[in-house]
This record gives sequence, structure tokens and C-alpha cells, in this order.
Amino acid sequence: MNCMSELFSEEQSKSKERSIMVLLLWLGLSLLLAEQSNAVRNCHPSCHCEVESFGLFDSFSLTRVDCRGMGPSFSMPITIPLDTAHLDLSSNEMGPLSDAMLTGPGYTTLISLDLSSNKITKISPNALSKLRYLESLDLSYNKLESLSPSCFSGLPLAEVDLSHNRFQEFDMAVFAAKVNGEPLNVDLSQNKLVSVSTTLHGRVLNIQSVNLSSNQLVNVPSMAGLPLRYLNLDANPIKKIKKGAFAQLKELVYLSLSGLSELHEIEPHTFSDLQNLQVLDLSNNSNLKSLQPAVFSGLESLQELNLSGSGVTSLPANMLSQLPSIKSITLGQSIHCWRTQKQGQFHRQIGQVQHNEELHCNVDGIVL
Ligand SMILES: *[C@@H]1O[C@H](CO)[C@@H](O)[C@H](O)[C@H]1NC(C)=O
Ligand SMILES: *[C@@H]1O[C@H](CO)[C@@H](O)[C@H](O)[C@H]1NC(C)=O
Ligand SMILES: *[C@@H]1O[C@H](CO)[C@@H](O)[C@H](O)[C@H]1NC(C)=O
Repeated sequence: MNCMSELFSEEQSKSKERSIMVLLLWLGLSLLLAEQSNAVRNCHPSCHCEVESFGLFDSFSLTRVDCRGMGPSFSMPITIPLDTAHLDLSSNEMGPLSDAMLTGPGYTTLISLDLSSNKITKISPNALSKLRYLESLDLSYNKLESLSPSCFSGLPLAEVDLSHNRFQEFDMAVFAAKVNGEPLNVDLSQNKLVSVSTTLHGRVLNIQSVNLSSNQLVNVPSMAGLPLRYLNLDANPIKKIKKGAFAQLKELVYLSLSGLSELHEIEPHTFSDLQNLQVLDLSNNSNLKSLQPAVFSGLESLQELNLSGSGVTSLPANMLSQLPSIKSITLGQSIHCWRTQKQGQFHRQIGQVQHNEELHCNVDGIVL
């Protein structure tokens, strides 16, 4: 009897063990399935959705959705997971953006949206209005000619790429409607711009970087009132840069004026407001033959001057007094000049470095 009961209980515990194992297996499997369905839940079959977890115990996660090049057979809005942060809709032959195309669950949490390489000709005034957290918007390589004044209204944008479109005129005021916060970087390069305006009407435009390279600008557009730190005007048909062109750009650190093939004159005192400018790129301006020393007046912080590939072949001897902070000047193909201590002068008076230092180049006869 004793033996029987022992045998019985052994049988019982074995079956208990088995059922626990089955339970565990089932639990594990369902967890795995849950995880999997979590990753693809609401993911459009033509898209690739990826959940990135971070933080302590992976307590934060964000979803990246890649719907590049889905082919012609899709209809907007595309269904995306609820907590999508990054959405790539590039290369989809998308036409005009209507109000309904970027709406639905998942869109309100977007931080970045890539709409590049489509055929977007128009953006309806409220097409982006649901994207309340959008910081980065890529609209490059489209067919945009204009934007409605309110199209970025209420968006906390920090990065907007509008390069490779068809803008002929552009008013920076379109960014006045952005909610305050991070400074904005705008790329408007490779358009057909003949005019850029900044109608402020007392509003503040927190724009720190503007790229206007490869456009059709014949004059430097006025950016007065913007807290710009970077400005690129490369490869525009600008013939002459007039005094006052960079008025009020006191925050500017980097100014690129390269590849202006028609530029032949920069007026004296043109840069006189740019007391914080550190880099001035005047390279590849082959028709710029000479520069009066007064052109550089006011550039107290300038460290780097690039005149390579320009028509300027010599520098005035008093250059250092004009540019008290200069570290390097590049000329011609490979002529480099830099600041050195004048030989035989050891009694350097602090605060009067100009008198004891001179410009030295790796080629003779440059400093006249
Ligand atoms: C400005 O635009 C040009 C041409 O598209 C590009 O090569 C350059 O990298 C841009 N500069 C910045 C800082 O983005
Ligand atoms: C010089 O400028 C021209 C005209 O803007 C441009 O086509 C060319 O690529 C530039 N060259 C270099 C080396 O930057
Ligand atoms: C000066 O400009 C040329 C042409 O744009 C570029 O290749 C070179 O790297 C620049 N040099 C410096 C010191 O920035």
C-alpha cells in the first residue's frame, strides 16, 4: 500500500512538472508573439518598422518607420504604429500634399519626417498641422514653388530642408509661425531663387543657419533681424557686394561667398558689422581681382580667410592691423599665410600684438 501510494504520488508530481513546463513554454511563446506583434502592430506591409528601446530597463522606446520607394500602389495616409517618432516617405512619387495625407494615430508623435525625392508641387495650408512635435522636415528634391504663409504654423521645427526645389521667391516669415524653442536651420540651396525677403512685422525669427547656395541671386538678400550664425551664398550670379549687405548680422560666425563667378567688387566696409565672424570663404571667385584693405575693416574675430582660386594674388602689409585675430589666409592654389613673430623683436607688449607680429607666407612676394 505504502509502495503504491509512493508510486502514485511520484506519478502525480511528474505530471505536475510536465504541466508547469507546458505552462512555461506557453508563457514564453506568448511573450515572444506579443513582442513580435508589438514590433509590427499597425505597420503597413510595404514599410519596415523598427522599435528602438533605450533608457534604464529599456523604459523608453521610439519607432522608426521606413516607407521609402513603396511603388505607385499605396494610398495616403499610410497606417503607422502609434508611437512613431521617425517616418521616411521619400521616393514615393507623391504629388500635392493635402490636409488628410499626414493624419491619424502615430502622426502626432512624429519628430522627423522625410518627404524628399517626391513630386510634391503644393502643400495645403493645414497638411502639416497635426505634426505638433515635428523638429525635422526634409522636403528636398521636390517641385515646390511656393508655401502658404501658415504651413509651418505651430511646429517646433529645428531643421527644414527645402533644397532642390523650384522656389523663385521666398519669404523667411513663413518660419515666424514656428513655436519658440530651438533655433532653426534652413536649407534653400539648389533652387531658382531671385529674391529672398524677411518681412518681420515685429515678430522674432529664430533662424541660425541659412543655405542659399546655387540659386539665381544677383544681390545679397537682406537678412537683417535674424540671429544668423551661418550664411552660405555660394554659386550665385552676384556681381557686386555693397556696403551694408550684411548689416546687423552681429551673430554671424561663418560666411561663405565662394564660386561667385561674376563677382568683381566688394565695397570697403562691407563686413563692418560682422564683429563675430570667424570664417570668411571668398574662394573660387576668379573675377575678384583686388580687395582694398578697408574691405576687411571690422572683422575683429576673423580667424580664417580663404581667397584660393580668386583673382587676388597679393596682400597688403598692414593686413594684420585690419584682422587682429587672423590665423590663416589661403591664396592661389597652395599659398598659405599665417601670423608669425617678427624677427628680432622680443619686447612684446601684451595687448599690442599687431606691432610685433607679421604675416608670413610659404611663397615670397605675396605680402606687399
Ligand atoms: C549648402 O548647400 C550646398 C549645396 O546644396 C551643400 O553642398 C552644402 O553642404 C550645404 N551646406 C550646409 C552647411 O549644409
Ligand atoms: C567654382 O565655382 C563654379 C561656379 O560657381 C562652380 O561650378 C565650381 O564647381 C567651383 N569649383 C570649386 C572647386 O569649388
Ligand atoms: C579654400 O577653398 C577651397 C575651394 O573652395 C577649398 O578646396 C580649400 O579647402 C579651402 N581652404 C581652407 C583652408 O579652408
